[in-house]
Formats: sequence, C-alpha cells, structure tokens
Amino acid sequence: MNTNQKTVLVTGATGTVGRYLIGELLAGGHRVRALTRSPEAANLPTEVELVAGDLAAAPPEGLFDGVDSAFVFPAAEVAGFVKAAAAAGVAHLVLLSSLAAALEHERDRGSASQVHHAAIEDAVRDSGADWTILRPGTFAGNLLPWAQPIRFTGGVRGPYPTSAQAPIHEADIAAVAAVALTGPGHAGKHYPMTGPQALTRIEQLDAIGAAIGRELHFTEITPDEFSAEMRSYGVGDDIVSMLLHYWSDTVETPDVVRPTVPQLTGRPARTLADWARDHAADFA
Ligand SMILES: NC(=O)c1ccc[n+]([C@@H]2O[C@H](COP(=O)([O-])OP(=O)(O)OC[C@H]3O[C@@H](n4cnc5c(N)ncnc54)[C@H](OP(=O)(O)O)[C@@H]3O)[C@@H](O)[C@H]2O)c1
Repeated sequence: MNTNQKTVLVTGATGTVGRYLIGELLAGGHRVRALTRSPEAANLPTEVELVAGDLAAAPPEGLFDGVDSAFVFPAAEVAGFVKAAAAAGVAHLVLLSSLAAALEHERDRGSASQVHHAAIEDAVRDSGADWTILRPGTFAGNLLPWAQPIRFTGGVRGPYPTSAQAPIHEADIAAVAAVALTGPGHAGKHYPMTGPQALTRIEQLDAIGAAIGRELHFTEITPDEFSAEMRSYGVGDDIVSMLLHYWSDTVETPDVVRPTVPQLTGRPARTLADWARDHAADFA
C-alpha cells in the first residue's frame, strides 16, 4: 500500500503526455481524476475517475474535491481554471509549459510558443497555489509527420539536415510530472528538460530507420521550398517561421542536453532510438 497516496487531477488526460502521466500515477498507487471534453471517447484505464469538462470553461461542480495536486495542460485559456483550483484548496499545480518560455534564445522572443506559454506560466504563478513549471524542448512526437513520407517514399524532405536537436520522449515528461505532482520539494521550480542526446535531423531519421529496419534518405530542400510546402498544407506562417529559426540556429549551436529527467526520476532519459522503437508501427 502507498502511504503517500495522493489524489491527482489530470487535464490534457487523453493527450500524449496525459496518457503516460496517468500510467505513472496509477503505477505509483495514486488516485487519478481526469478532466476531458469527451469522456465517452477517453479510453482511459477503468481506475480513472472521468469528469466531463473543458479547461477553458467554468469547472464542473466537485472537480477539485479532495484533490492534492493538478497537472495543467496548456490549453488556450487556463487562467480561470488555475484560479478556481487554488481557491478550492488544490495545493500544487504542475504546468506543462515549453522551453521557449525561458527565453534562452533570441529566436524565441515573440514566437508562437513563447507568447502562448509565457502567458500561461504567468497565470499559474499568479494562481495562489504552489506551482512547478515543466519546460520541455522539442517533443520526439514532432517527428510523427515524417511517417507518411517515410511509408510512401522511403525518406523525408526538409531544410537544415545537419541541425541538431535533443527531442524528448513524452513518457519522460510524464515521469517528471508524476514526481513533481506527488513528491515534496518541487514548489517554485522551473524544470527545463530535453532528451539525452542532440542528434542531427539526419541522425533522427536514421534512428527511425533502425527501428523499422529500413535505410531512409533525407533530401535537403531550401527554407523557401519548405515554407511553400507547409503553406500548402495549411500550416501557419508563425509556426513555419518558429521551426526555421530553430533549425537554422541549431546547425552551429546544437540543443543543450538537460539533466532534469535523470535527476528527478533516478534513471536515464529515454533515447530517440527508444522512442522510434515505441513508434515503429507508425513508420513501418
Ligand atoms: N510539441 C512540442 O515540441 C512541444 C514543446 C513544448 C511544449 N509543448 C506543449 O505540449 C502540448 C502538447 O502536449 P500533448 O502532446 O500531450 O497534447 P495532445 O496529445 O495534443 O493532447 C491535448 C490534450 O489536451 C486536452 N485539451 C485541449 N484543450 C482542452 C480544453 N480546452 N479543455 C480540456 N482539455 C483540453 C485534450 O483532451 P480532451 O480532448 O480529452 O478534452 C487532449 O487530450 C502543446 O500543445 C504545447 O503546449 C509542445
């Protein structure tokens, strides 16, 4: 029996990080309540108490009853939710933010991600509850759009093939979130986090190739060609510009690897090879 059993409210529960987080919390013997807009489609473990609701709307009656800590997904509007949680006595909020909010690089100033996450961080710090802010860098899941070109063409097209990033496995974000939500000593902390290695985009593709047993080719295109392709898929210029600045900067200056995942969880961070194996079915 877990003598430190907590009741944790999870928002973003049906998302990638949220599902891993729920697995971590249940494995640790904690009680989980999940807020979702579509309980009928949630497909979460039966031990999870589902509550229908929207982060951006007034919290449903009783949502915060008995809740020790809450995981806050950075939806468009969460200020009302975090104020209500603090007022209802939720002692600790753990926010999924982004490394962009740390403004470590000039490229982040005014970017879509920096503006969005900085505003949500302010709301959480002003909520009145204790808080911990998780600041992951690029998610490994950002490579999923490569699945279709890999399946159909045996490779990908993109700019800056030698730029190097340190993608983080979403399960590791969840593992750190679970530690912060259920253990002492995390209030008032900002946790920057990345994967364990900076890999060039070619090496990232190779990791996927190794997981599916195929040699994959990276075809370099210009930033202008990339922008035009993204626009044709309806991707906004703010997102395209954010990506291009990130990749062009990380040609000369690869992502700095952060030790947060091993420090907080006590085990090595998952590698991109691990992530690629977990997602082999998406790419094969
Ligand atoms: N991609 C990156 O490189 C990166 C880097 C740093 C930070 N981030 C942050 O991480 C987020 C993605 O996390 P993820 O991959 O776990 O998300 P995800 O898989 O896209 O899932 C989003 C979840 O949020 C819930 N949600 C959205 N709006 C909601 C609302 N108004 N009310 C209640 N729930 C709402 C949805 O649940 P229901 O539909 O069940 O309600 C859904 O399960 C990004 O949006 C970004 O803020 C991303």
